[in-house]
Amino acid sequence: MNITLRIWRQHDADSPGRMIAYPVEGVSADMSFLEMLDVLNETLTLDGQEPVAFDHDCREGVCGMCSLAIDGVAHGPEALTTTCQLYMRHFSDGDVIDVEPWHAESFPVVRDLIVDRSALDRIIAAGGYISAPTGSAPDAAATLVPKAAADRAFDAATCIGCGACVAACPNGSAMLFTGAKATHLGALPQGQPERGARALAMVAAHDEEGFGGCTQIGECTAVCPAGIPLDMISRLNADVLSALRSPSP
Ligand code: FES
Repeated sequence: MNITLRIWRQHDADSPGRMIAYPVEGVSADMSFLEMLDVLNETLTLDGQEPVAFDHDCREGVCGMCSLAIDGVAHGPEALTTTCQLYMRHFSDGDVIDVEPWHAESFPVVRDLIVDRSALDRIIAAGGYISAPTGSAPDAAATLVPKAAADRAFDAATCIGCGACVAACPNGSAMLFTGAKATHLGALPQGQPERGARALAMVAAHDEEGFGGCTQIGECTAVCPAGIPLDMISRLNADVLSALRSPSP
């Protein structure tokens, strides 16, 4: 099939950006969206033009690097799907498809479709860890983990940190990401000692990075490729409130 891409081109964070149209011919329905961009880039390179910069790594839906807004929707039209796992069979011959970077104040554009998502790393650095004593490895059965807690922690840990939640949120909030990362540790016995301090530190880092507050709109969970539910945010808010009521000594 033949399609037209309208792609956001921007030299760097300080330059203005604009949409430029590119025809792409001979697109196979079995190509992923990124493979289709590879074809475009090969053509541009052979023509002596600058290829389109876009983020990717695993191309298997697990690393969270791919990050395109396709026709205005983070990761495109398919639910529970990363951009790298989106296939061209979901589009039709003659389609005109808009491709943009994540638009969020806390994610400045680096070039074309690549944004700087290091603000998410700084939220993790603020509290996304547990402290463990040094020495020999503890007995594997020394700390029993209830099945419900293990399941909850695992569900939270499926967040791949792509930032689609931020891109979709009208407030530019990263609370779904922060809630998932805090819950992933806070649901487990090993994460209890720092649970309150972790919630406070991660939310403070979230706010310092300029992300907006959550007003429970739910766009984040609608585009999340891992299906992280909105109640991860409620759980984080409950941890914050409880820590404020009973601060650690
Ligand atoms: S490239 Fe790794 S999740 Fe898409």
